[in-house]
Amino acid sequence: MAVLLLFLFLAISTVSTAADDAFIGVNIGTDISDMPSPTQVVALLKAQNIRHVRLYDADRSMLLALANSGIEVTVSVPNDQLLGIGQSNATAANWVARNVIAHVPATNITAIAVGSEVLTALPNAAPVLVSALKFIQSALVASNLDRQIKVSTPHASSIILDSFPPSQAFFNSSWKPVMVPLLKFLQSTGSYLMLNVYPYYDYMQSNGVIPLDYALFRPLPPNKEAVDANTLLHYINVFDAIVDAAYFAMSDLNFTNIPIVVTESGWPSKGNSREPDATVENANTYNSNLIRHVQNNTGTPKHPGIAVSTYIYELYNEDLRPGSVSEKNWGLFNSNGEPVYKLHLTGAGTVLANDTTNQTFCVAKEGANPKMLQAALDWACGPGKVECSPLLQGQPCYEPDNVVAHATYAFNAYYQKMAKSPGTCDFKGVATVTTTDPSHGSCIFPGSGGKNGTFINGTSLAPSSNSTTSGCASQYIDSGGSLMSVVIIGVLAMSAVFL
Ligand SMILES: *[C@@H]1O[C@H](CO)[C@@H](O)[C@H](O)[C@H]1NC(C)=O
Ligand SMILES: *[C@@H]1O[C@H](CO)[C@@H](O)[C@H](O)[C@H]1NC(C)=O
Ligand SMILES: *[C@@H]1O[C@H](CO)[C@@H](O)[C@H](O)[C@H]1NC(C)=O
Ligand SMILES: *[C@@H]1O[C@H](CO)[C@@H](O)[C@H](O)[C@H]1NC(C)=O
Ligand SMILES: *[C@@H]1O[C@H](CO)[C@@H](O)[C@H](O)[C@H]1NC(C)=O
Ligand SMILES: *[C@@H]1O[C@H](CO)[C@@H](O)[C@H](O)[C@H]1NC(C)=O
Ligand SMILES: *[C@@H]1O[C@H](CO)[C@@H](O)[C@H](O)[C@H]1NC(C)=O
Ligand SMILES: *[C@@H]1O[C@H](CO)[C@@H](O)[C@H](O)[C@H]1NC(C)=O
Ligand SMILES: *[C@@H]1O[C@H](CO)[C@@H](O)[C@H](O)[C@H]1NC(C)=O
Ligand SMILES: *[C@@H]1O[C@H](CO)[C@@H](O)[C@H](O)[C@H]1NC(C)=O
Repeated sequence: MAVLLLFLFLAISTVSTAADDAFIGVNIGTDISDMPSPTQVVALLKAQNIRHVRLYDADRSMLLALANSGIEVTVSVPNDQLLGIGQSNATAANWVARNVIAHVPATNITAIAVGSEVLTALPNAAPVLVSALKFIQSALVASNLDRQIKVSTPHASSIILDSFPPSQAFFNSSWKPVMVPLLKFLQSTGSYLMLNVYPYYDYMQSNGVIPLDYALFRPLPPNKEAVDANTLLHYINVFDAIVDAAYFAMSDLNFTNIPIVVTESGWPSKGNSREPDATVENANTYNSNLIRHVQNNTGTPKHPGIAVSTYIYELYNEDLRPGSVSEKNWGLFNSNGEPVYKLHLTGAGTVLANDTTNQTFCVAKEGANPKMLQAALDWACGPGKVECSPLLQGQPCYEPDNVVAHATYAFNAYYQKMAKSPGTCDFKGVATVTTTDPSHGSCIFPGSGGKNGTFINGTSLAPSSNSTTSGCASQYIDSGGSLMSVVIIGVLAMSAVFL
């Protein structure tokens, strides 16, 4: 037992580089027909106390909006730019100059994700993947930014084979020629392994073998817990098992000190008839439990207490994403900033705990008489003592210059000033309460973003409607998972015997 404990202790101490507190971040995909402006995105992030984001590109207007926001940013080299960067040091240096150096330190870029699931999504770029990382790293070194900005590449968990029991996991040997130099690079630069972890797909492909509760971090009866017969570690959720499988797959190649950051994890809230477990209830349970699990610094059975920071997939539902219904419904929020569901996070820290479902605004009623609106507007900005200067020409809420828009601003400012008390959103019947934030462009309404009308200067920023690659969840449907589920059968069977 003493030997075992000592062994465990050594194992823990080797991954100490990640011993800071784990954080929750979010991915921001942009395949959205009415993509909010960068200013609105940042207002939502701030209201939700989200301090870590990953972009799927390095969109200039988004990076400008994130400047001086206190939010840490992972930018990405989209897969379609990877070949060029991996083949040319100069192209890489150029990319870094334009997308990183131009924005730091105002925008706190802390990592560069080079490609997305390259080995499984774009295998023909695999031979240049490590060169791409190295070229980008040398450009950072040349600018003395390599300490604050880490370079890595997000992997699909399907590159890990025999994930159960986790202690037997190894990387698909087809990728050994890439993984060994990649891990050497991560180790020598103090970076981390980026891993996308989708218990949803493992559950879906297991044909009922993986209990839903096990995928959703719900309590399991002891006889359903999975026990790794080699390590005697108990697994009570799929997420931990996949992360530990990645640690073991790295050890299999003799790398024992590389931390893991989960670059994507989540659960869809809606699906078609063949996706019956993509429900609001399950998505809420998964993401709420995931956030608690990560923020508790629980670590994994193999490395208890070691931070596994995780980016939730994803901030917004992406209605333009191709594929099944679930593909469009991984978001925590609709594009208008309304939460898709209210996370159960009481006592789990502050991130995302500021649910906005109770956030209400006062707006001019549709079809209200313009004369009555004007009278009410005059009252609000006069006797009502509303601060109406944002409505003046040249100010952020001047446009659109019509009585409905201006009355809406003034009604809402009054309503918020009166702490939304009953009767303060009436204005002789021409006003009504809504949960939709009427903010637009740089005109941020009082009550929006949890702040009193703090707005970020984004007047000149165009909405980033031209998205490049976004999260690549769909490929899991065809690949990965199946082996995992076979082995889970083994483990569940084994644990039944064992206990
Ligand atoms: C950027 O993030 C790093 C890592 O958390 C932090 O140490 C640093 O203070 C941040 N910089 C700014 C300018 O906020
Ligand atoms: C790539 O460029 C950097 C400067 O940006 C230089 O320091 C490095 O030696 C170059 N590497 C190669 C392999 O050419
Ligand atoms: C390993 O990777 C290769 C190359 O992508 C793939 O063809 C093969 O199916 C993978 N093996 C398994 C067991 O998934
Ligand atoms: C890992 O190290 C062990 C012991 O030093 C050695 O036998 C083994 O070949 C190494 N494995 C790899 C993949 O380098
Ligand atoms: C939080 O961590 C403690 C140990 O550090 C553990 O006992 C507890 O179960 C964890 N809670 C959750 C919700 O993970
Ligand atoms: C919302 O967040 C602010 C700061 O981010 C915090 O002071 C406040 O307590 C939070 N409100 C709730 C209900 O959690
Ligand atoms: C939301 O509103 C309901 C009904 O007004 C109230 O019972 C609940 O406490 C509110 N929740 C928060 C977090 O303010
Ligand atoms: C909140 O509003 C008050 C009065 O309108 C203003 O003085 C203050 O600067 C605002 N706070 C922020 C953070 O914008
Ligand atoms: C926005 O920024 C521009 C240029 O930095 C500045 O001239 C303008 O006054 C700012 N507007 C607001 C509303 O802060
Ligand atoms: C968006 O993409 C379209 C077609 O690719 C292009 O015509 C348009 O100029 C782009 N818009 C912006 C704002 O980049």
